Amino acid sequence: MPPETATAPWTPAVQRALDDHKARPGALLPILHEIQQRVGHVPPEAVPVIAEALNLSRAEVHGVVTFYHDFRDHPAGRHVLKVCLAESCQAVGCDHLLAHAKQRLGVELHGTSADGAVTLEPVYCLGNCALSPALMVDGDVVGRATPEKLDGLLAELRRPA
Ligand code: FES
Repeated sequence: MPPETATAPWTPAVQRALDDHKARPGALLPILHEIQQRVGHVPPEAVPVIAEALNLSRAEVHGVVTFYHDFRDHPAGRHVLKVCLAESCQAVGCDHLLAHAKQRLGVELHGTSADGAVTLEPVYCLGNCALSPALMVDGDVVGRATPEKLDGLLAELRRPA
């Protein structure tokens, strides 16, 4: 491990994920999930470390990190708001809801509001189609979402601790 990565705050979590899964076939996904869970994101500087440990190219590891929506390469805000953009939610106006969320937060998808409170992410079906349009706030599903309901949620999420 190069000296600059050997002392990074995320190094122990990455090393532990590698130790836990490296010997398994298909180790990359479980390693990335564990790092995401422990660090909150997959640091770009960890990509070469993971690639070397698994005998993969950096491009292969980077490709997987960027392909899956579950992984992020930078820290999220204190809360994560996901707007469902799949078919059933599309049919009842999730685009309008997404535009409202972007406008209220002042961000595009994958962005974090300037106060660091909320990261906006897309999601593709929350299994809550009967109650479309659907949102997820920190892992909790919210059905029959409206701009007004969203405003109430955002006010709570952005309230100072
Ligand atoms: S399509 Fe949005 S919850 Fe299923």
